[in-house]
Amino acid sequence: MKPLVQRLGYVALNVTDIGTAIDDARTIAGVRLVERQSGRALLTSNQRHAELVLHEGTADEVRAIGLQAHDAAAVDAVRDRVRDAGLPLLSQRPSLDCIERSVTFATSEGHVFEVHTPMPLSQPVRYTGPGIHPRCLDHINLSSRDSEKISRELEAVLGVRQSERTKGHEIIWLRAADNRHHTLATVKGKSGLHHFSWEFASFDDFKRLGDTLDAEGRFLVWGPGRHGAGDNLFAYYIDRSGFLVECIAEMEVIEDENHQVRIADPGENLSNPKVVNRWGALPPRIWVEHSMPFAPAVAD
Ligand SMILES: [Fe+2]
Repeated sequence: MKPLVQRLGYVALNVTDIGTAIDDARTIAGVRLVERQSGRALLTSNQRHAELVLHEGTADEVRAIGLQAHDAAAVDAVRDRVRDAGLPLLSQRPSLDCIERSVTFATSEGHVFEVHTPMPLSQPVRYTGPGIHPRCLDHINLSSRDSEKISRELEAVLGVRQSERTKGHEIIWLRAADNRHHTLATVKGKSGLHHFSWEFASFDDFKRLGDTLDAEGRFLVWGPGRHGAGDNLFAYYIDRSGFLVECIAEMEVIEDENHQVRIADPGENLSNPKVVNRWGALPPRIWVEHSMPFAPAVAD
């Protein structure tokens, strides 16, 4: 059966300084402000109404990860599976007016997901302004105390499928119905979000990213390089709210319906470059240990 979710919908963050967070997303990633009102801002890099949702909050933390389902029937199917799995069903009220139907649930470690009907394509294709102008928000990587358990929960509820995992289930990559190598991943660590990712159009964009960060006296945390898992180009930076942001290009697409889960050997402490970074440089400690917490899951 096809996964019930098509792709990543949005990332919603609580931030202590919303002005700075908006400014960072606009000047570095180069996304567009769609609207800002009463402590909330919607930003996007394409026609989708919202990809990055920022809420003024008392802590820098993750509010929810939006996953786009095919239609309302798929949302209802996810709701039923959440109940069957015995996971906390938090809400059936869409978090944004532009979303027609949704269900919000939490994993057993408190990662919060809103599975929603397609995001309206209400915005212009192209726009002016600073930053890189990514193509789209493309994947997220959770951190979990028990990656294997969280992966099983997501597979059961969302129908997402494993593309690849490490031998000891330290990292698991899951694909949605669009068949990209991963829309969701989970890495062993504190419960939270490890990073979220924008897709770039070309390798030139990575040069501009490095130069843009440099012009602000900042730097890339890791990369550019090419991940073994997913075969994608990557670079990471930390935004001014403390979130780890990945920028990628050329993510592998798995079209084989009979794809067998690849099992990778990451080496001790992610020391195998052919899994971690085919070009050689291994991740720094700041990357390995990064995790941002989810806000406490509250049912309405
Ligand atoms: Fe990633």
